[in-house]
Amino acid sequence: MGLCFWVFVFGYSFSTVNADTAGGANVEGTVFIDGKAHIGKIDNDFVCATLDWWPPEKCDYGTCSWGHASLLNLDLNNKILLNAIKAFTPLKLRLGGTLQDKVIYDTEDHRLPCTHFVKNTSQLFGFTQGCLPLYRWDELNTFFKISGAVIIFGLNALSGRSIRPDGSAVGAWDSSNAESLIRYTVKKGYDISAWELGNELSGNGVGTRVAANQYAADSISLRNLVQDIYSGVEPKPQIIAPGGFFDQNWFKEFLDKTTKSLDVITHHIYNLGPGVDTHLIEKILDPSYLDGEANTFSRLQRTINSSASSATSWVGEAGGAYNSGRNLVTNAFVFSFWYLDQLGMASAYDTKTYCRQTLIGGNYGLLNTNTFVPNPDYYSALLWHRLMGRNVLSTSFSGPKKIRAYAHCAKQSVSSRIQASIIKNH
Ligand SMILES: *[C@@H]1O[C@H](CO)[C@@H](O)[C@H](O)[C@H]1NC(C)=O
Ligand SMILES: *[C@@H]1O[C@H](CO)[C@@H](O)[C@H](O)[C@H]1NC(C)=O
Repeated sequence: MGLCFWVFVFGYSFSTVNADTAGGANVEGTVFIDGKAHIGKIDNDFVCATLDWWPPEKCDYGTCSWGHASLLNLDLNNKILLNAIKAFTPLKLRLGGTLQDKVIYDTEDHRLPCTHFVKNTSQLFGFTQGCLPLYRWDELNTFFKISGAVIIFGLNALSGRSIRPDGSAVGAWDSSNAESLIRYTVKKGYDISAWELGNELSGNGVGTRVAANQYAADSISLRNLVQDIYSGVEPKPQIIAPGGFFDQNWFKEFLDKTTKSLDVITHHIYNLGPGVDTHLIEKILDPSYLDGEANTFSRLQRTINSSASSATSWVGEAGGAYNSGRNLVTNAFVFSFWYLDQLGMASAYDTKTYCRQTLIGGNYGLLNTNTFVPNPDYYSALLWHRLMGRNVLSTSFSGPKKIRAYAHCAKQSVSSRIQASIIKNH
């Protein structure tokens, strides 16, 4: 295929490799690229970011980092926000998060008042149920259209189930409220590229869990519903699930039982532990720690490969550090060493799309929650999006462990020379 690739090389803390050389230390390494075959093929709009539901009252250990970044209150007239999304043409946006499984849509079948989430620590996820008014859904879709974003909407998958004392959610999914939202969306001509069922209910779940067998049946119901509502419309939105943490047995059963009904299997990544962890920066700068996630990617790839499913995989939500990240770490320059490595690693395991938690909100936004000003990772995302093409090439690096290399074919026209983008932190 010729020399058509971009090599993304980045490294950090060279001083630890050459501690006795004052200034101008040179470190040698060699990048090996097998240009003959690609090991993965990412979506053209591989870079994705999330918008969440958390209200301003969402706090973690006394830190309240969500401000007005919720789908329900985000300022859609902000010019920086609009231009930040437009710069990608297109940016994938996944709308969802913990509270999505407590959202009611204010469609004609919903007869109760449309109320906000209210903090209540004795309830699941710490909040009461909340409601999406249709006028807000209209505003959001108008904004998405202008910004050119590609939308993935996460539906409430707990609707109709009851939570047992052992923490499991049982019973079939009640799709009626979701159905009326989807019907309304189609009637209005809003473009939703994928409907996702549920958030973090797979495996052991977060807060509660749903068995794989039941989840597969519900995903097939969603598929049938979408086929029906979009009859005569092409292309139809994709059906994606479960938006949870990888659990080999659960994922295997789910894939085997959904077979061709599922387009994409989504998993979440918070491999750095909680945002309050005082060793967060050390983990981000530790190559062997970063390498740990390759194990999950590899097992997921083998699970898909050995199943009856034709689904591809996405990282549907990845914030690195859970409980909203950490100020001055997950929104700072240092976090790009985690983020860029994740983009490269995910691609090398044939992940098609990678959604960063968040576009805005919490301490891990690509944009600052209060000012909307881009954080360093915003530019990492944009650089990746502009340079890295769809075909992922087998790449290895021999040299200091703190330098990482990933190669893809160039995004646009064939480039006649190898170009390297080097980000250094001396
Ligand atoms: C919080 O939720 C519990 C359980 O549903 C309920 O009994 C209680 O009244 C709620 N508290 C407030 C302040 O609304
Ligand atoms: C998938 O399975 C096929 C044969 O069943 C094998 O040749 C291929 O290497 C596998 N790929 C991965 C990524 O495991």
